Amino acid sequence: SEPPLDELVAAVAVDIPDFPEPGVVFRDLTPVFADAGVFRRVVEALAGSVLEDPRVGALRTGPDDPGFDVVVGVEARGFLLAAAVALVAGTGVVPVRKAGKLPRATVAAEYALEYGTAVLELHTDSVRPGQRVLLVDDVLATGGTLEAAAGLVERLGGVVSALSVVVELPALGGRERLRPHTVHALWTT
Ligand code: PRP
Ligand code: ADE
Repeated sequence: SEPPLDELVAAVAVDIPDFPEPGVVFRDLTPVFADAGVFRRVVEALAGSVLEDPRVGALRTGPDDPGFDVVVGVEARGFLLAAAVALVAGTGVVPVRKAGKLPRATVAAEYALEYGTAVLELHTDSVRPGQRVLLVDDVLATGGTLEAAAGLVERLGGVVSALSVVVELPALGGRERLRPHTVHALWTT
């Protein structure tokens, strides 16, 4: 049968030392996205991992309900995954963008990530009160990015069902920082 997905991702991903700054080992997942078979399995796993999550289970209304109403992805690498996950799950997709890109009224949050700081924005009408959100990104490092994105969703009254990432770098403590949200990672390294 096929090799486990974490082994496939580990075999295809590329580590770049000292990018984008000294001391950071950058996990480049572009080869994972470029490989049709691995990409399909990654997307299906991101959508499916939450199905076994008891916290998501409590939000599900039936066997055909994934437990989220919309997928939110974070610019830029999160976009590649979030749209595909939404298509597989049968939901729409909503972008969280870097400052100045969204044309209408937004909520905004400044945040720090492993290498720098930035501002994220979300259209105020893109998540409705009570709407259940699956947050998707490629890499969980410090968790600053997903913490900010989850905060924006919650400021609009959205309910974060869970967070799904391809790669978790556990040494940076993102999972602990994001509690009580549940993080699903396909590969922890
Ligand atoms: C990367 C990655 C995550 C974030 C994780 O995005 O895609 O969004 O960093 O880091 P953290 O857990 O420490 O917050 P980046 O800001 O480099 O933007 P990009 O997707 O536009 O390359
Ligand atoms: N985002 C934050 N830290 C990262 C890393 N080490 N590799 C890839 N993306 C990241």
